[in-house]
Amino acid sequence: MGFYSDHIFPRLMDSGLSGDLHRQYRRRALARARGEVLEIGFGTGLNLRCYPEGVSRVVGLDTASFLEARVESRIAAAPFPVERITRDAAERLPFHEEQFDTVVSTWTMCSIARLQAALKEIRRVLAPGGELLFLEHGRSDRRWVAKVQDTFNPIQKVIGCGCNMNRAIDREIERAGFHLTELDRFTVPGVPRAVGSIYLGTAHT
Ligand SMILES: C[S@@+](CC[C@H](N)C(=O)[O-])C[C@H]1O[C@@H](n2cnc3c(N)ncnc32)[C@H](O)[C@@H]1O
Repeated sequence: MGFYSDHIFPRLMDSGLSGDLHRQYRRRALARARGEVLEIGFGTGLNLRCYPEGVSRVVGLDTASFLEARVESRIAAAPFPVERITRDAAERLPFHEEQFDTVVSTWTMCSIARLQAALKEIRRVLAPGGELLFLEHGRSDRRWVAKVQDTFNPIQKVIGCGCNMNRAIDREIERAGFHLTELDRFTVPGVPRAVGSIYLGTAHT
């Protein structure tokens, strides 16, 4: 898995999530970002050009780092400081309580092995009145699609380097004690429903 996960998957991920449509979704999801932002699953920095004015700093957290030259040029082009930290989001994070105005997660909650632990940590570092902004793929509302997702999830976890396609993202967020304030559900055009069923929304503590 080493060569695939270190060299091939990051390129697939970066090109698969960087199209115009994905950028539009990112801009919608991030429209309310402000102040100090913690981004969980920073990946290759594709969100950086989609943040609105009013963001003062982004801390990008990820378990891995890849495509360094590409990521560094995206960071250099950002109109705010960007700090990166290599850490599992489910561990105790090196931030104090209520430190961030905004926490962002895009196409990441599918991959976090201990998602509930990570969401609880996000709650701890999010300021009162702050928001969790999310744009995720997950479990379809259509029963037959969800059945397909359950069946193929073990394969998806291998080819997607830990990605689950059958997580009900809204329920996971609520189970961690967040209150959903907005939720839009739709399917990405041209993408199979099993991996294109989207949860775009906001939540607060
Ligand atoms: C599909 S990529 C999405 C990257 C980026 N958020 C985007 O929208 O382009 C998922 C990212 O989550 C990261 N990730 C997976 N598990 C994680 C964890 N437990 N803590 C932090 N990051 C994690 C992966 O390394 C990867 O960069």
